[in-house]
Amino acid sequence: MRPRMLILAVVSGKGGAGKTMTSCALARHFSRRSPVTVLDLDLHGPNVLTQFGFPLRYAEMTAGKVKPVWYEPNLAVYSAEMQGDTEGRGFVATDAQKREWVLDAFEAIDLGPSRYVVCDLPAGLDEIFYQVAQHAPIDAFVVVTNPDEPALQDAEKMVRLMIDFKLHRKILGVVENKARIDCPKCQHSWRVANGVGAKARLCEQYGLPFLGEIPYIWKHEHADVLEHPMLRGMAEALVRAKFKQRKLRRLLGGG
Ligand SMILES: Nc1ncnc2c1ncn2[C@@H]1O[C@H](COP(=O)(O)OP(=O)(O)OP(=O)(O)O)[C@@H](O)[C@H]1O
Ligand SMILES: [Mg+2]
Repeated sequence: MRPRMLILAVVSGKGGAGKTMTSCALARHFSRRSPVTVLDLDLHGPNVLTQFGFPLRYAEMTAGKVKPVWYEPNLAVYSAEMQGDTEGRGFVATDAQKREWVLDAFEAIDLGPSRYVVCDLPAGLDEIFYQVAQHAPIDAFVVVTNPDEPALQDAEKMVRLMIDFKLHRKILGVVENKARIDCPKCQHSWRVANGVGAKARLCEQYGLPFLGEIPYIWKHEHADVLEHPMLRGMAEALVRAKFKQRKLRRLLGGG
């Protein structure tokens, strides 16, 4: 693996937390300065192409490696959807097969000149996550959660598990998605949950950087959701955050 390539995985305990949106927003942001590959490894529901609005194209093999598709000059995507054999039916396989597929992807896919690789991983605190978090060549993780209690509980379990595996130093930070609803007609803003948010619950308790909260985004108000200022702010916070590991500081510094 090239020394200047940062492989970043976006994870959440709970499904639907906003991993795909966060992955695509980070990739879009990084691609302004450097080549980026998005690995959509969510076999349960690969949604990266839909989130970007990119058409489905099948990946090709060259010199024994799977080639991601370049959709923009600095942005390539490989998605689980690009396996011609699934034909829109999803990927029916055992957990063991899925785990091997995800682990193999890091070797099988040609990451080319990418400076950043953003991986959208499947939701769930299952064996796929345990094995991938420990054995895939991932440099860093971004944890995404919603502010409601079930999502926070699952995110906290994930953080504790990463502490047990001594992977917590690789957590770049926490994003609280769908944290509030800003009325599009007046200035009023509602918090979505009553309880303690991700900042206190995860960041202060476990010493993790808080990368920001994303409001509910009204799609009809934003031609390109990924350009929402709060998503851009989250990506900038990630680059600015102070990391405990020297390797991560080096990989993120000076794009
Ligand atoms: N801040 C937001 N405002 C409005 N809609 C959002 C926001 N975040 C996510 N969504 C929408 O919520 C749904 C779930 O988001 P997303 O697909 O990013 O979650 P996920 O964690 O990748 O889900 P899964 O676990 O199923 O892969 C999507 O339809 C997405 O467009
Ligand atoms: Mg997803």
